[in-house]
Amino acid sequence: MSRRPHQIAILGTGYVGLGTAALLAHLGHHVTGIDVDVCKIEQLQRAEIPIYEPGLEKLLLSNTSQLTWTTDFSAVQQADTIFICVGTPPSADGTPDLQFLQTAVASLAPYLGRKQQIIVNKSTVPIGTGDLVVRLLEDLAPEFDASVHYVVSNPEFLREGSALEDSLYPDRIVLGGLDTALDHMISVYAPLIEQSFTPPASAPRPERYTRPAVVRTTLQSAEMIKYAANAFLALKVSFANEIAGLCEHVGADIEEVTTGIGLDSRIGHRFLQAGLGWGGSCFGKDTQGLISAGREHAYAMPILQAAIDVNARQRQMVINKLLRHLRTMKGKRIGVLGMAFKPNTDDLRDAPAYTLIQRLAELGAVVTAHDPVAMARAEREWSHLKYSSAVNAAQVFQRADAVIIATEWDEYRQLDWEALVATMRRPLIIDSRNLLRHPLTAQVEQVGRELKGTIGAAL
Ligand SMILES: NC(=O)c1ccc[n+]([C@@H]2O[C@H](COP(=O)([O-])OP(=O)(O)OC[C@H]3O[C@@H](n4cnc5c(N)ncnc54)[C@H](O)[C@@H]3O)[C@@H](O)[C@H]2O)c1
Repeated sequence: MSRRPHQIAILGTGYVGLGTAALLAHLGHHVTGIDVDVCKIEQLQRAEIPIYEPGLEKLLLSNTSQLTWTTDFSAVQQADTIFICVGTPPSADGTPDLQFLQTAVASLAPYLGRKQQIIVNKSTVPIGTGDLVVRLLEDLAPEFDASVHYVVSNPEFLREGSALEDSLYPDRIVLGGLDTALDHMISVYAPLIEQSFTPPASAPRPERYTRPAVVRTTLQSAEMIKYAANAFLALKVSFANEIAGLCEHVGADIEEVTTGIGLDSRIGHRFLQAGLGWGGSCFGKDTQGLISAGREHAYAMPILQAAIDVNARQRQMVINKLLRHLRTMKGKRIGVLGMAFKPNTDDLRDAPAYTLIQRLAELGAVVTAHDPVAMARAEREWSHLKYSSAVNAAQVFQRADAVIIATEWDEYRQLDWEALVATMRRPLIIDSRNLLRHPLTAQVEQVGRELKGTIGAAL
């Protein structure tokens, strides 16, 4: 495989763009990150990382000689590989909004030259978007030539919170497009495919990891693989939650049940944790995106719709549990532990905590919320919600009528729960992430199980 360093341009320096930039720079390529957000680019130029992602800052800083940040799209001229990593948020009807992608293509188009350049779609986009990008380039790029400019679909599978490990040691690399373009992509990813790079100290190679599978396919199949993968994972989560609800009725323990079923190698344990359901920028958007693609063809997708409905029900389940204990929310002090949609990220998009805080405030509760990293971001992005930020986790317990565990941050496991519960007005914990391992001197509600054992034992 070719070892030459590639000249890479990355359009969009969000969670995916920055992860991709860090990965490709670490593989030895020269990377230019381009974004329309001037503040973000200025931060990156000052070596400040605009998002929270474990290990990312270190990896970017250790590869600064390979990295350039700019708002100037003319940097595309030098690139042989141009990654599009812009957001594709859902529109009101659930279809992915492609305006950022279309603008990015329009911005890069004038700078395509006469040499071979591969335009790689990493954003999650509806099936057929690869063809749309080709058509836009035909219309907007004066030098567009279908014999040297190729569009590839290379969906991203990283998870926020473990983006580095997912990027450096992926299960598979999916590449959709024509053979010439896919051969080029294999040369870009050669050190990753062969695992010939030196693992960074912040993300050592897992012991039993060998190398990623490479899936070569068509544009359309690659685009579909991303949606189908996310939809399947979302189904697994909702399935566990549906079974958990029934466990509560019949007295079974969801964790013992998922352990029992997960040992079947056809099923596996991952994504079977019962709790508050999924959030974040992907599962909700991508399940809705597939349903809306089906709708275009008058093709119903009832399984996916059910997964979405069960996910919404999990958020309501927390409110129902509170109401069962407290009768009314009016004047009740409710503490919320965790705001990010999952631990180890500051991402607040479609966070379950948002729905909970909004609903509790509507019902008249006084809400105090805490998050180890996402509070500052929440103060900017959730400024329309009625809640106060806690100075520390302990503050959400003070004189509270109930505390909800909404995100399973590790540091919440380390809290002195007995001491904190003693500061509550009414000791009621809604552990919607099944984080607690032992009973407390408090009423504790978990999802699909009851806490057993000695009160106050260490977590
Ligand atoms: N976040 C994830 O965990 C994840 C995982 C897999 C796939 N994806 C997909 O990857 C894509 C990007 O997601 P993200 O979470 O990184 O989004 P993000 O919102 O964090 O980042 C998008 C970036 O694109 C920039 N941008 C917008 N318009 C632009 C333009 N015209 N030119 C250049 N930059 C522009 C924005 O300023 C922003 O910095 C989405 O399609 C998403 O579905 C995300």
